[in-house]
Amino acid sequence: MINQSKNNYINKLPLLLILALCLGLKSNAHQPIKVFILAGQSNMQGHGEMEKGVKGNLRWLINNDKEDIYQHLVDEHGEWSERDDVFIFTWDKFDTIKTGKLSAGYGGFDTTIGPELGFGHVTGNHYENKVLLIKTSWGGKSLAVDFRPPSAVGESGYSRIPSQPKDTGYYYVQMLSTVHKVLDNLQQYVPDYQGEGYELAGFGWHQGWNDRVTKTANKYYEENLVHFIKDIRKDLGTPTLPFVIATTGMKGWADKDPRAISLMNAQMAMTNYPEFKDNVSVVDTRDFYIETEDSPSKQFYHWNRNAKSYLLIGEALGQAMIDLKKKQAATNIHQEIRNVPSYDSKYLTPTPPMGWNSWNAFEKEIDENKIKEIADIMVSSGMRDAGYKYLVLDDAWMASERNEKGQLVADSIKFPGGMKAIGDYIHSKGLKYGIYECRGDLTCQNLPGSFEHEQTDMDSFAEWGVDYIKLDACFARKNGRLSTEDLDVYHKAILKTGRPMVLSISDFGSGAWAWGGKNYGQLWRTSMDIYPRIQSVYRCAETSGGNGAIHPAFKGLWQFAGPDSWNDPDMLQVGNLKSTIEDKAHFSLWSILAAPIMAGNDLRSMSDEVKNILLASEVIAVNQDSRAHQGFKVYDKDSLEIYNKPLSDGTTAVLMLNKGEKRSDITVLWDQIGVSGPQNVRDLWLGKDLGKFNGSFTAKNLGKHEHLLLKIGTIGSTPVAGPTPVAEEKYTVTQEGTTYLSDIYYMLKKGNAPVEDKNFHGKPLKVGGKKYEKGLGVKSNSEVMYRLNGKAQRFQAVVSLDKNSPKGASGRFQIMVEEKFGGRVIFDSGNIKKGKVNIDIDVSGLDFILLDFSGKKVFGNWGDAKVISE
Ligand code: GLA
Repeated sequence: MINQSKNNYINKLPLLLILALCLGLKSNAHQPIKVFILAGQSNMQGHGEMEKGVKGNLRWLINNDKEDIYQHLVDEHGEWSERDDVFIFTWDKFDTIKTGKLSAGYGGFDTTIGPELGFGHVTGNHYENKVLLIKTSWGGKSLAVDFRPPSAVGESGYSRIPSQPKDTGYYYVQMLSTVHKVLDNLQQYVPDYQGEGYELAGFGWHQGWNDRVTKTANKYYEENLVHFIKDIRKDLGTPTLPFVIATTGMKGWADKDPRAISLMNAQMAMTNYPEFKDNVSVVDTRDFYIETEDSPSKQFYHWNRNAKSYLLIGEALGQAMIDLKKKQAATNIHQEIRNVPSYDSKYLTPTPPMGWNSWNAFEKEIDENKIKEIADIMVSSGMRDAGYKYLVLDDAWMASERNEKGQLVADSIKFPGGMKAIGDYIHSKGLKYGIYECRGDLTCQNLPGSFEHEQTDMDSFAEWGVDYIKLDACFARKNGRLSTEDLDVYHKAILKTGRPMVLSISDFGSGAWAWGGKNYGQLWRTSMDIYPRIQSVYRCAETSGGNGAIHPAFKGLWQFAGPDSWNDPDMLQVGNLKSTIEDKAHFSLWSILAAPIMAGNDLRSMSDEVKNILLASEVIAVNQDSRAHQGFKVYDKDSLEIYNKPLSDGTTAVLMLNKGEKRSDITVLWDQIGVSGPQNVRDLWLGKDLGKFNGSFTAKNLGKHEHLLLKIGTIGSTPVAGPTPVAEEKYTVTQEGTTYLSDIYYMLKKGNAPVEDKNFHGKPLKVGGKKYEKGLGVKSNSEVMYRLNGKAQRFQAVVSLDKNSPKGASGRFQIMVEEKFGGRVIFDSGNIKKGKVNIDIDVSGLDFILLDFSGKKVFGNWGDAKVISE
């Protein structure tokens, strides 16, 4: 097959090439993709026959075409040609997705065409950019019911349709969720997509039959369509998105049915609305009607299945779209070009994922009804539209036994419809579907885990339409695989399914930021489980934003965060804490730390206060800022803390938090946050500008656990610089010869922080009566991870309990490869009480080692701990 290119200039190719080289080759590789949405019912699906029938099919038109106007639809061999600059995604029934290069065959059936063909050719020829058509259309659907727009719910026309809930139309939701899904995954649908971004360029609508049939629907069509246009624009965030509407046409000019006429009049009336003047246009399609005798079928509607009608409608829609866009450009109306940063193409989570997870609210008590209710509320509360797109089912959705094929199955009492059905429901609400599993042979609730069933389970998830997998780590120590090995299995299994699924690594904070969690998943836990207590919230936050899990020199984990690399201090307890003050402090902390925002409260019973916290748009915007920077602490003293998160718009977000009991003032100095001179200060919870301040700002009289979340600076000014990351050589063994581990920064610690070159009490470090200048003083239980990066061959140290240990206590020194899950112990002192042990072991080729000291409130010394590189 030869691809149809921009113009039929194939034989002039050499000449063109020379011309192009002289002018500097104009390529569409880095221009935003023009994305057009085509939607409607069977009119848009399209029933123009390609081969069937005697007359009027596409093949017949080509063969009988004297003016050569159809020849571009086939190649020189008479095969249906494909465009290599126009791509299409169509979804017209559940699970019937067709996608590829534009050609004939994207109508309602593989053997028919709809308006997409003409539309794609016209727009493809006009634009240098690549074009992507997203077509959603379902037969037999009415605008009053199935596509009912949300703002019209409960209004006159809609409430009068008997037996329909006053809810947004199911297919309205489907249509938008499909569009979002495609836009989120452009790299799948646009070959060679290199992150050039996209422009949501226009919307084409061709629909009507079912609103002619029902009297009430007919009467309110005009009103419905106005709501529809406005709502779609709102939901897609494009206030002047160009709309072209093809009138439903019916029997052409012969149609005298009053409801057919009224429907077409309603469609044509759209351009009379002043607000639609420059951005909506209507194509009267009655001219394109062809008599029954010249068509493949005897029916009068659906254009007699005549291919020409569909082709002409598509071309007319395409031309109207181009004209409209030219008009918009001429009248200088703002066009919403989305110059998506290049990472959008490669990343599943360019900003921290947001959603809701069942665990904190319900633990094991989940079922189909509850989850459906939650999904409904995620939409009706506005959460979905505020960004909460994942609905994640945590542990205990599965039956205690796999089926005879070894596959996971739903707990049949909790989820009688099965896991695909609940996923379909979630998707039908325009949400994404998340599910829980575990790397161990059992989940944390002793249900079947995925160990040794990895591919089977990932395949099941893909089949069920899962978009997000929370992968826990209970019992994974028995696997005998390092975390990197274990996760690699899942990563590859997910890739093999061909379905993009986010992998959320839930491993209680085992150092994924250090050992490359981003090679396998998009987010990783930094902490143990969170509980509904503010101190637990603070502890979890500290693992990501403070010294809770890493050497203080790093000032938290911010330098390991970014698109598809999120530090996850666990799910939200907002709504489960003691007070609004605490709930807000929690939400602000997660926001500034660019933490995944997974709500964990029972949405069905949340108060308006809690809802308003979860929906606080200016607070969410800090978390979701496209600069994708994790905030970091710039001040921490006497339970008073200040965090800073430079934003993409030139300002910076600042959190001032009183973790203590006493009322206090907190002052942030401009020097601490990278700005200078007079600066605007905005309170993001109040949504209020507080005025201009010079040099500093003081949060006055903050009570126990109170805080302020501010935005400081001038929108549009040069972006505020972030801090300098710790250089790799400071936390990695790089040099030949000896490196004392206390001279490089550890990348993970659990338990108390080790004391460098002193015992745990800060006194000289002694082992077996001998003083050591170098080494680590620790208190059980303690884990410390160092990055050798394959550079060292030997680890040497001399260890003993410290004299401050309780009498008769025992302690155990172990060294492990990477971290604990792999269970690969390369040194074990056993329980020792007194005496010293010399360690001299081979560490060749290891990237990470973990020094582990365990016992009951006992102190230990790693004297002279060093690695040697030859
Ligand atoms: C672990 C995880 C929790 C939750 C439970 C479910 O504790 O850390 O977030 O998923 O398992 O059993």
